[in-house]
Amino acid sequence: MQTLVVDHPLVAHKLTTLRDVRTDSPTFRRLTDELVTLLAYEATRDVRVAQVTVDTPLVSTTGTQLTRPTPLVVPILRAGLGMLDGMTRLLPTAEVGFLGMARDEATLQPATYADRLPQDLSGRQCYVLDPMLATGGTLAAAFRLLVERGADHITAICLLAAPEGLTAVEEKLDAGLDRDHGATLRVVTAAVDERLNENGFILPGLGDAGDRLYG
Ligand code: PRP
Repeated sequence: MQTLVVDHPLVAHKLTTLRDVRTDSPTFRRLTDELVTLLAYEATRDVRVAQVTVDTPLVSTTGTQLTRPTPLVVPILRAGLGMLDGMTRLLPTAEVGFLGMARDEATLQPATYADRLPQDLSGRQCYVLDPMLATGGTLAAAFRLLVERGADHITAICLLAAPEGLTAVEEKLDAGLDRDHGATLRVVTAAVDERLNENGFILPGLGDAGDRLYG
């Protein structure tokens, strides 16, 4: 699994304001939206495209177009929903599938309560949206589900990741999937923070993204 930390002053600035406990919900939502668009710009560098011919008012020339089927964008409810507009602003033709997953507060294990994804994702490129990669249980389960349906190139866009969570995603996938599944798995994030606390929250983090987005 590859991890890309997007190193850009605007990303760092917006993330700092998101971390600030004084940032209210409307501002948190707007900044999440803006930050996702910046992260998505980097995350989509390898979106699949084809060369096409385009007629300008003057001549024909070669251009670039997204291939079909277009990518599948998968926000993980509920907090991932706050990232959807920022993503579809860059990929307006993308299909959107929804995964509802909630982490049990005591065991920290994720449970899937909604699955509105296509059954067949063979050869499909997917972008998973989830603000927080904490213990990694949620993202590992989402990756596994997408790979088992045939997706072969999956990028998770997260606002923040914990080092323990990144390691855990790799370990869980190695344990739960055929090593030769052949899918490319990537995480694109604004920062890898210091660590998790005993309650599975990222430190220094930004608190509970779902609560800060939706109260
Ligand atoms: C949060 C977050 C991730 C998950 C990360 O969601 O948005 O989905 O926890 O934790 P993990 O890496 O330890 O699995 P939560 O379960 O709180 O649900 P919510 O989005 O509905 O608030």
